[in-house]
Amino acid sequence: MTLKTSNLVLIIDFGSQYTQLIARRVRENGVYAIIKSNKLGYKEFLSLDPKGIVLSGGPDSVTSKKIHKVPDYILKSGIPILAICYGMQLISHYFKGKVSSSVKKEFGHASFSIKNHNILFNGINAKKKMNVWMSHSDKVDRLPNGFKVIGKTTNTKIAGMYNIKKKIFCLQFHPEVTHTDNGKKIINNFIYKICECKKSWTIKNIMSDIILDIRKQVSNKKVILALSGGVDSTVVASLLHKAIGNNLICIFIDNGLMRKDEVSEVKKNISSELGIKLIVVNASSIFLNKLKHIVNPEKKRKIIGETFIKIFEDQAKKLKNIEFLAQGTIYPDVIESSSVNAKSDLIKSHHNVGGLPKNMKLKLVEPIRQLFKDEVRKIGRALNIPSALIDRHPFPGPGLGVRIIGEVTSSNVEILKNVDYILIQELKNNSIYNKISQALAVFLPIKSVGVMGDKRHYSYVVSIRAVKTIDFMTASVCEIPYKILNKISSRIVNEVPGVSRVVYDITSKPPGTIEWE
Ligand code: XMP
Repeated sequence: MTLKTSNLVLIIDFGSQYTQLIARRVRENGVYAIIKSNKLGYKEFLSLDPKGIVLSGGPDSVTSKKIHKVPDYILKSGIPILAICYGMQLISHYFKGKVSSSVKKEFGHASFSIKNHNILFNGINAKKKMNVWMSHSDKVDRLPNGFKVIGKTTNTKIAGMYNIKKKIFCLQFHPEVTHTDNGKKIINNFIYKICECKKSWTIKNIMSDIILDIRKQVSNKKVILALSGGVDSTVVASLLHKAIGNNLICIFIDNGLMRKDEVSEVKKNISSELGIKLIVVNASSIFLNKLKHIVNPEKKRKIIGETFIKIFEDQAKKLKNIEFLAQGTIYPDVIESSSVNAKSDLIKSHHNVGGLPKNMKLKLVEPIRQLFKDEVRKIGRALNIPSALIDRHPFPGPGLGVRIIGEVTSSNVEILKNVDYILIQELKNNSIYNKISQALAVFLPIKSVGVMGDKRHYSYVVSIRAVKTIDFMTASVCEIPYKILNKISSRIVNEVPGVSRVVYDITSKPPGTIEWE
């Protein structure tokens, strides 16, 4: 993007769990931030031309032999540096201060008092103690030459230090974490007062930049996109459509494992409302045939994935003169593969919706690969994509196929579609849908006895699940009020033939996963 080159904060990641947060905070304040590992080469560094550099925290100890270091050229560049936690210890180590290891950890809240007020704390009351978030065991014991203490906490005498001449500012605590008082102000001061960045990372600018970039990359060639109906691919479709109009062709493959009414909703949103060229392929029977007698979850996933790619390729071949394939890759996927501790197998293949057909020889267009999910959502809103679509819970690529335990048959799919529909409808009716990160229903291939009217019947059990999570790596169970659970259960048993019992899944992640398969 053109914006980034003129006004960018470079974050060097040393493996902190908060690195992504630093980037988000900088961006929320209106400046583009990019995360790179310390293996970043000099040429790339020069081409990025950052206005400021943040050194993240990380699990290493500078007192051990093998550590991740900051490249020399960064420290000698004269570009302002904000070093956080491990980053601060690295600075101390480099400039010959002293860092000592301690078994005593300082984790969680700490009370920070400012000793030497400076530009990083502009607008912050120096006399008032600040509640800050700490997560360290090592600490700086002796300042490097030319550095001054910023402030202290009860356990840490040097909880911040700076060298105004070198424009290096270090904090032992984490300003990027919302639990830290004035964290936003500190980051604001760094990017605007110290680095002298200009506010440019705004949704309007990002959008127009992305559109210009697409036009530059694609010119008058044709692009295909596998549309999943989710937020990312819909936003990508909409951006591409704005950039290249009818040279975008979206393919939506109905695998028969979508939510109730999903296909007509997608047609309505993409085709009718956004006016995007859409090919809908009804492939339900192909998928169901391939899934016959298959009960192993991994086999199901594999079959669904491979069948999807095969159908997508067949469709693409029918279209003439296609040069590009668009994908909804987003920034967390990119960071995962480039972090300091990255392993190439880290990217979850299931998040790469549709998978990339390798032998198609199409060039990739990934318009949102620099954006976080919340930024994608904001763009979606600005593009007038209906909020029901923007705020919907995630839905896995293999769809209901991994929510039906045992064999996937058309009658099981039908049952689950109706159960899921009632669940989501009731959560929305009771205004709790948006407070839940993900809700789902699971079909269980076991039968239980029930009684309705005067008749006994023997039908299936379904489980419902609702979780709260920030990153979907861990999740806790939502405490849905009993009255609502009761209503959901009674509607399901009364309205969905074939279901006699509803259970509520109260397993958090870990040890459970969000999906059952
Ligand atoms: P788990 O079950 O691993 O799920 O706790 C974490 C998140 O990932 C989603 N998920 C998938 N998404 N294809 C996808 O596109 C998949 O195969 C898949 N499996 C799980 C899940 O819905 C949750 O949001």
